[in-house]
Amino acid sequence: MAIPDAFLDELVSRTDIAELVGGYVRLSKKSGANMFGICPFHSEKTPSFSINSEKQIYHCFGCGKGGGAIGFVMEIENLPFRDAVEVLARRAGMTVPEEAGQVEVANRRRRLIELNRDAARHFHTMLSSSLGASARDYLVQRGISKASATRFGLGAAPDNWTILFDAMLKKGYKKAELVEAGLCRPGRGGEGAYDFFRDRLIFPVIDVRGNVIAFSGRILGDGEPKYLNSPDTVAFSKSRNMYALNFAKNSKAGNLLLVEGNIDVVTLHQAGFDSAVAPLGTAFTEQQARLMATYTENIIIAFDPDEAGKKATLRVLPLLEATGKNVKVVDLGASGDPDDFIRKRGVDAFRALLKHGESQIDYRLITISKGHDMQTDEGRLSYLAKATDLLAEINSIPEREIYTSKVALAAGVSVDSIKNEITRKVRTKSKARAKTREKEVMRPRVNIQPKGRELRYENESSAVAEEGIIRCIMRDSTLIKVISEKGFAHSEFTSKFLEKVYLILEKRLSEDREINEAQVSSELEPNEASEFMRIMRKPESLPDSDNRVRSYIEKIRTEKLRTHAPDTDTLLEIKRLKETYGGHKG
Ligand code: CTP
Ligand code: MN
Repeated sequence: MAIPDAFLDELVSRTDIAELVGGYVRLSKKSGANMFGICPFHSEKTPSFSINSEKQIYHCFGCGKGGGAIGFVMEIENLPFRDAVEVLARRAGMTVPEEAGQVEVANRRRRLIELNRDAARHFHTMLSSSLGASARDYLVQRGISKASATRFGLGAAPDNWTILFDAMLKKGYKKAELVEAGLCRPGRGGEGAYDFFRDRLIFPVIDVRGNVIAFSGRILGDGEPKYLNSPDTVAFSKSRNMYALNFAKNSKAGNLLLVEGNIDVVTLHQAGFDSAVAPLGTAFTEQQARLMATYTENIIIAFDPDEAGKKATLRVLPLLEATGKNVKVVDLGASGDPDDFIRKRGVDAFRALLKHGESQIDYRLITISKGHDMQTDEGRLSYLAKATDLLAEINSIPEREIYTSKVALAAGVSVDSIKNEITRKVRTKSKARAKTREKEVMRPRVNIQPKGRELRYENESSAVAEEGIIRCIMRDSTLIKVISEKGFAHSEFTSKFLEKVYLILEKRLSEDREINEAQVSSELEPNEASEFMRIMRKPESLPDSDNRVRSYIEKIRTEKLRTHAPDTDTLLEIKRLKETYGGHKG
């Protein structure tokens, strides 16, 4: 599991965060060791993302994300820790030492991918055999050419229970491997196995590195379920992959086109729209949004124009908007899905549609108007109520004006008549915002809580002191002596997260190793690293830090006594402690 600390230290020290981040974010030199740029993790117009090349860390003052080089790669490439280390190691010309467990997982993954490749070959061969006739007919019916079928490696799963199982056993694969890959299901009572995909058109799912990681199988015609997809395996995570991204990422179109079905993807590529991708059956995820954002600045959603497609569009929009990329929605009108649209109206019409598309705001306004009967006064009024709510959300004034005139036009009223209403709503909103801000200032303790719920502090007063101890040791590692002098044990931390950070510091110091923010971050999960950065940025006055650490420890101990319904003895103990240490103001 664990990669040796010494290796990670070496890796971090060989990586220049400015150079690393510079590959993703345009940084401009500012004061001293700091450089600034537009944050790649949230949407913003002015740069609040900073890197500090002395400390080798990044931090965004806008969204609060922060950490070292490893955390940065995890976040931006959407990778687990180990893979992020691999990426950095490759850059630094180092080889990650593999532990027994890791070697095993890596081998299993390699073997599964090999099996998937063989299975894909089998399905593809079936497509041109006599057993593939119905799948071939279906391709003809959907207008998918032979060339497209070859390019996408499409295949046929015949109407048969064990044809793949038998073929793969013959190739030397074990039943257990076929089951693990999700290609077969164990038979009743554990006897034998049967094929998962039967009587379906097969789409191999290929990742951006070119590995066959899974399959989708579409029913040949109408029926439920329309698609079957491989389950998650060591080689495949549904929520972190997109169908056809392996092709679309190389498209010259300058966008990624998100559609619903694999058939849509194939027919679009065939018609020259080679930037089309589709999710893989689960609800579209945040990771998929970020994956798309890694490869393009422009994302176009072209879901089916039915109710389900519209709902899906409204759910997907905020996820894609959160990436900070340009997001457009195309309304296919009554012309069916993208595939139908192109058949009926042609390639040029579709290209024009993509070019114009609608911004999220247009799309939302149209959705609102469709929910109202614009022929009646009541309908128009309730449309206006909803539409002006939306207009009040727009921060840019020129943009707001443009949409205001569109809404006025749609409702058949004058611009002036709704302007006041919008101004009123904008005011109410900013007042509400000011109030929450004021509250935060008045009760600053609410700010002590970490951003992530999972790191929540049970005892805030104690956590303040615990954070303080960590800050002090980070700034002056010799202060660790105060800890042992006071017989303070890590189990006295009330926050598991802060205890973890403390243990990292303690371990490093006991091994005579350096501690700095970048290295400590590299041992934390990304959310923890961000929180750690936040803690480190809180003020701490250095003078008399020995006593400061002492009073932090006392604070933790009195808090513990206070929250554990003290008996008389402990009350006396608290009194004694207070008398002894009351002199140091924390
Ligand atoms: N879907 C799925 N697994 C996939 C791809 C899509 O479960 N690998 C689901 C989507 O979530 C969506 C639907 O199937 O709900 C896709 O529908 P559609 O666009 O109708 O699929 P097509 O193959 O394009 O079918 P059609 O013939 O209707 O165009
Ligand atoms: Mn479709």
